[in-house]
Amino acid sequence: MKVVNMQPNDLRSSQVNRAATGINFGIGQPGFDLLPLEMLKRSADARFAQGDTEFLNYGFEQGDGYFRDALATFLSAEYATPVAPEQLMITAGASQALALICTLFTAPGDTIFVEEPSYFLALRILREDFGLNAVPIPSDEDGLRLDALEDALSRHRPKFVYTIPAFQNPTGRTLSSKRREELVALSRRHNFLVVADEVYQLLQYGAAPPSPLASYAEWETVLSIGSFSKILAPGLRLGWIQAAPPLVQRFVGCGLVDSGGGLNHFTSNVVRPALENGWQSSYLAGLRETYRGRIAAMEHGLQRHLAGVATWRTPDGGYFFWLEMEQGIDTAALLPAARAAGVEFLPGVRCSSVGGLGNCLRLSFAHFGKAEIAEGVARLGPVLQAASNR
Ligand SMILES: Cc1ncc(COP(=O)(O)O)c(C=O)c1O
Repeated sequence: MKVVNMQPNDLRSSQVNRAATGINFGIGQPGFDLLPLEMLKRSADARFAQGDTEFLNYGFEQGDGYFRDALATFLSAEYATPVAPEQLMITAGASQALALICTLFTAPGDTIFVEEPSYFLALRILREDFGLNAVPIPSDEDGLRLDALEDALSRHRPKFVYTIPAFQNPTGRTLSSKRREELVALSRRHNFLVVADEVYQLLQYGAAPPSPLASYAEWETVLSIGSFSKILAPGLRLGWIQAAPPLVQRFVGCGLVDSGGGLNHFTSNVVRPALENGWQSSYLAGLRETYRGRIAAMEHGLQRHLAGVATWRTPDGGYFFWLEMEQGIDTAALLPAARAAGVEFLPGVRCSSVGGLGNCLRLSFAHFGKAEIAEGVARLGPVLQAASNR
């Protein structure tokens, strides 16, 4: 018999090593202190108290009807634009939604367009899990550059464009309304899908971003992905796809849900009372307030320790600061010195599909409280300063 040697890491219950002493700004997850234990317990109690066992059986393929109703009402209010339950397909999170889209709409070797830079783990899913040829499209302060996209369309026929239109990971940038309209028009003219990963859409700390791409979901070229990971708890593995009903039926009709039923039936039932009773909305309002404070703490630290060494734009939503240092500096090479100083970050090169952006770095303000953010930036300062003085 093969004896499996369990290392301590295998026994951890979370992806984040809580025993680590360093302040890792690379972690794009909410802090443990922010996760709403009591509210979720109340929500689960309310569902269990209904007394039926329906939510313990296989669920409706598209996602529980009562839950889709509650989610549609919540999203319509938060987006300030109508969302219908027929437009929603419930998933086990945004990552799974992306994988399902790849399963249904692509074959290995197909071309897709991705923003440069982009969410590093989505790049992994697209390229490594599905063998797709990811062609980078540059972005600027207004998000994806449509002139570059149109130019690339003269050379490629992409199956879809993967974009993060609101408070992008990693840059924090938001696609302008004008570009949203143009992107949808281009997708219809050139017959490709727009896969909009909108997990940060509701995490705005100032003005709301333009309407989600989901508001164009009447067109059969737009798939909007949402998730409870950033607005409630990632461990729930609960998310959704919003699309035109005929497109939603492509998911409903696939073998995966034919065999297994709704993709996260139990959890969606447990979360439903939180939506119906307004607890999710109140929690989200509190989360925005907390993150506003964390941004201020990081901004203050950066001004103090890194002014003149790096440039950045203060984010007005999402999870991240994106720092640019002078060309030629390799932030990945600075990680060992940063770790020795008790701090970490995500090097820009991880967010590039072409091995570029070596002079950039991503800092998340979501995982740590204000005091740790101040301490972490103070530790980071001398490491980056030393590199820029060389
Ligand atoms: C842009 C983006 N998409 C998707 C995810 C993962 O979402 P989920 O937990 O719903 O799979 C993340 C998490 O960091 C993200 O930043």
